[in-house]
Amino acid sequence: MNCCVVGLQWGDEGKGKVVDILAENSDVVVRYAGGANAGHTVIIGDEKFALHIMPSGAVRKDMNCVIGNGVVFDPEIFIGELKGLSDRDISLEGRLFISENAHVVLDYHKAEDQHRENALGKNKLGTTIRGIGPCYADKIGRSFAVRMADFRDLDQLKEKLERIVSYKNKVFTALYDAEPISAADIFEKCKGYAAALTPYITNTTKYLHEGIEAGKRLLFEGAQGALLDIDHGTFPFVTSSNASALGMSPGCGVPSSMVDKFIGVVKAYSTRVGAGPFPTELDNEIGETIREKGHEYGTTTGRPRRCGWFDAVAVRYTVAIGGVNEIAMMHMDTLAGFDELKICKAYKVNGVETTFFPSDAVELSSVECVYETMPGWSEDLRGVTAYDQLPENAKNYIAAIEKIVKIPVTMVGVGPKRSQAIPKG
Ligand code: GDP
Ligand code: IMO
Ligand code: MG
Repeated sequence: MNCCVVGLQWGDEGKGKVVDILAENSDVVVRYAGGANAGHTVIIGDEKFALHIMPSGAVRKDMNCVIGNGVVFDPEIFIGELKGLSDRDISLEGRLFISENAHVVLDYHKAEDQHRENALGKNKLGTTIRGIGPCYADKIGRSFAVRMADFRDLDQLKEKLERIVSYKNKVFTALYDAEPISAADIFEKCKGYAAALTPYITNTTKYLHEGIEAGKRLLFEGAQGALLDIDHGTFPFVTSSNASALGMSPGCGVPSSMVDKFIGVVKAYSTRVGAGPFPTELDNEIGETIREKGHEYGTTTGRPRRCGWFDAVAVRYTVAIGGVNEIAMMHMDTLAGFDELKICKAYKVNGVETTFFPSDAVELSSVECVYETMPGWSEDLRGVTAYDQLPENAKNYIAAIEKIVKIPVTMVGVGPKRSQAIPKG
């Protein structure tokens, strides 16, 4: 059985937790998109891990981990994570494989991310400033790209960096009035990266296909959420990769026909970090209560997350475009204590009701939400260990969402820990 876990909202749905749980019945965990803009939390007992590049399977000492070609790889952050795990007695030696085709995020990408956001002023996208957009742009543009395989030949990398940095400096100084950056400094850092990373760099497509032939069970770990997908999300307020389930195959070289199940992760409500339309947003006391109860502050940037009601129109759309089979619904515990809960079941666009999500940011900004109001529950769910123990109103809330999105919820989150997820038949 090969599974793929993807976010169905605007990221931070709880993918790290779900991947960690499903990893128990897998042999290899594969990150295939995004970069250090991601922040995936895994909590086992009292131990907390916040991973940005490292697949969430890394916390299990016997798990093989792959970083696919679709990831934009930040060596500095990765090496920090490697050390952080090693300090906690978790070694990745011999079980971590990084694609030679993955593109490398370097300092000039982060600088460019910042310059571009500054230039946009009040229209900024609210990126994580992790260099994601500029690195993917260099990948698509080809002329100024650095890939993991380049760490194998330092002489050639030196030449390449001189050429790239000279071009970048012309752009930075002319367009952004910024200080030039030093190719020599970046090359010095790259020498260190090469020494630390070369043992892990390989042809991961070959590794994965050999694994498939040997009957290995693969678990694909999506990053971000489908509404942040570069093609199908709320453009331009998106990330620069195919963050929906559609990004899996190009991001690692395994066709989706080899995936038995796509599991979509959602929160029982909605959140978003950064700018962009958010139809069900609660810019009020209810939103604040959700933020505080759910600890809704970014794992990567610490920014407060915007909170809102569950948007079933959006999730029905991301289920459809991703071919998602099942839903894992996290944070049901966070919704305890509200008299009423709302689920957005349709939008009104110019007075006309629609259930199809308009991903265009301008159109989405003008929709009016049509809500179904459900009674809430007051019971604390954090100790619930079986689906039957959930209050009737919580079960009804889940059933109402299943009815709209048309696929079953098969896992329910009742707290942040590995142990706080219950299966639903
Ligand atoms: P990811 O990016 O999708 O992996 O999600 P993040 O780790 O960025 O954010 C999800 C947050 O919700 C983390 O702080 C998790 O520890 C937490 N979390 C996950 N599932 C649950 C749940 O069922 N209940 C509660 N209260 N917290 C959860
Ligand atoms: P995980 O994997 C939530 C958001 C940023 C910003 C937009 C573009 O933890 O779910 P970028 O730096 O990618 O150019 O920023 O995308 N964003 C995320 N929001 N979770 C994430 O990842 C995100 N990765 C990017 O906040 O709005
Ligand atoms: Mg996150």
